[in-house]
Amino acid sequence: MKGSTRPFDPGRLLYGGDWNPDQWPREVWLEDIDLMQEARVNTVTVCPFSWASLEPAEGRYEFGWLDDALELLTRAGIGFFLATPTASPPPWFTLAHPDALPVTADGVRLRHGSRDTYAIAAPSYRSACRRMARSLAERYGLHPGLRGWHVHNEYGTIDYGPYAERGFRSWLKQKYATLDELNAAWGTAFWSQRYGSWDEILPPVATQYLPNPGLVVDFRRYSSDEMRSACLEQIAQLRSAGSHAPVTTNFMLPDWNNLEQWSWADGLDVVSLDHYLDSATAEAEAHVAYGSDLARSWSNGPWILMEQNATQIKLDGRALPKEPERTIRDSLGYIARGSQSCMFFQWRASTAGAEQWHSGMVPHVGKDTEGFRTIVHLGEILERLEEVHLPPADGPVVKADVAIVWHADGWWALETPDLPSSDITYRGELRAIHRALRALGIVTDFIAPCACLESYRLLVVPCLYPMDERTAAWIESFARSGGTVVVTYLSGLADSAMRILPGGYPGRLRDLLGISSQSLRPLQPGTQLILRSELGPDLEVTDWTEHVRLNTAQAVYSFLTGPLTGSPAITRATVGAGTAWYISTHLTQSSEQALWNLILRDTGIDPTIVGAAPLGVEAVVRRSRDADFLFLMHDGDVDVDVTAPGPDLISGNDYSKGGLLAAGSCAVIRIAPDAATAVSISAHKP
Ligand code: GLA
Repeated sequence: MKGSTRPFDPGRLLYGGDWNPDQWPREVWLEDIDLMQEARVNTVTVCPFSWASLEPAEGRYEFGWLDDALELLTRAGIGFFLATPTASPPPWFTLAHPDALPVTADGVRLRHGSRDTYAIAAPSYRSACRRMARSLAERYGLHPGLRGWHVHNEYGTIDYGPYAERGFRSWLKQKYATLDELNAAWGTAFWSQRYGSWDEILPPVATQYLPNPGLVVDFRRYSSDEMRSACLEQIAQLRSAGSHAPVTTNFMLPDWNNLEQWSWADGLDVVSLDHYLDSATAEAEAHVAYGSDLARSWSNGPWILMEQNATQIKLDGRALPKEPERTIRDSLGYIARGSQSCMFFQWRASTAGAEQWHSGMVPHVGKDTEGFRTIVHLGEILERLEEVHLPPADGPVVKADVAIVWHADGWWALETPDLPSSDITYRGELRAIHRALRALGIVTDFIAPCACLESYRLLVVPCLYPMDERTAAWIESFARSGGTVVVTYLSGLADSAMRILPGGYPGRLRDLLGISSQSLRPLQPGTQLILRSELGPDLEVTDWTEHVRLNTAQAVYSFLTGPLTGSPAITRATVGAGTAWYISTHLTQSSEQALWNLILRDTGIDPTIVGAAPLGVEAVVRRSRDADFLFLMHDGDVDVDVTAPGPDLISGNDYSKGGLLAAGSCAVIRIAPDAATAVSISAHKP
């Protein structure tokens, strides 16, 4: 899967954050090193945005300050990820190369003044990036403190300018070979859009009315591939300069997605993720689990948490406090699910510049704060988790029975305009399913279409709107050989060129599912309908319904209310030795959970620790070389009694005869391979 075949093992859990010495006077560097030692920080990410300090004028490099900063770190025993600072070209660069500035879909050429302002396919930008990567690798590639390369920062700027136009056309030539193929795939006979020459094709720039959906999705695929080539070019420079340190680039998990992560992961030694909470309620922990499961899956094993919020959560224009217990719980949550690190943005909160109100491990106020005390406490805890980072000799770092299909195509397809409903988002649907499974105590992997399914019992296919024949065959063969497949609405409606497959929805999967939808019937906002079954509680649905006709499937739930009363809504078919479910409607969150409870019972899949999740205790087993580690993150309200065969590395409590785990707190219990006592968790009895 990845550039390196060995799981990423940095030799310890990495602890720290982004450190930007060029933004501070030298006396602050010295204080930083003291405070890092106090907090037991062992790793920082250096200089993701320091291009202007490293190359203040074209070809004039100033590495002296970085030499000194790295020397200070190394003397203090602190390692570093060295970033290539190419996400933020300096003003001199864009004045010298105005053609390397990105153009928006509306045709506006952006100017410098912020960051990420580059046209990814511009030759002058690409060669400047290669030069920068090369210079850094030649100087620091064998530095003893170098833990890895952090290429660029959060690739993601989409350019619609002349270089993108040119790049898109050659990408399309590679893909379609002939214009006839392309015209057929995009259906350009519609609205007289037939292309008679490759040069007539434009990116999806502002146009009078709706653009072509096939073109829109292909442009997003091209943009991801173009950014990936830029990343691989930098990696080639690092390698040819003789540096063999692990390479990563940090993915983002925001509300937008411009990368196709599986192909990117192939070129990296390890995947890293920047994860910013989008809630200050218990939903935050569900989000931590979701981000971690994605990163571990993309990385095909251990991964790096490169950034998380430090002492605040930025939400809807407000900077809310991140409570100490949440900081500890979430940091352990990432590690439980395979992270080899606990890193923050950023080490010291900026006092100037665009992000002066983003928090830091050292807040503006200084070290005598609850925020910094939490960072020190977290450092102490992480030092107690000595063996956790050791990758298991074989098998996954976290074992999952359930795999959820993830592909950027699904995300991009649901963002094309004029679908039957604009209320459904890919991320919304995937998160709802992941949230429900987590709340039932189930750990999930995400999986690329057509990847190996050997270790899974249940495959979930949510909202994968475009689907090729190979993917459909892969899903079907999993069911035929005894697996359980659950497909949701908006999957398999189109081929990978975004052409609808006629003859009853979802064209690609209706034989497998044993149903045929006669019409798609999105609901008006605010409408809620009820489903009924003999097998489970009533369910509530909103936003989306379909008129489903049964072929070989049976109805599990049917509509109790609304115009489809009596029609099937959730179906189940026997396929070879396995089962295929179809969820044709959008469930409210509590109903989602109730349905998954039923599906898990039907499939015989049990939670990691029976009884933990209903009490608000998230239980995850992280496998390591010599033992398993049971992580318990308690976000419920009631203290619990725990019995488990081993010591809690955080408190030192031996849980083998039972002990208390207070609401809000965490335990990491080392379970030896031959442990006999079973784990039990129940509400605390005083
Ligand atoms: C991203 C970036 C950081 C910083 C944070 C906070 O993850 O990588 O440089 O901007 O967001 O906004």
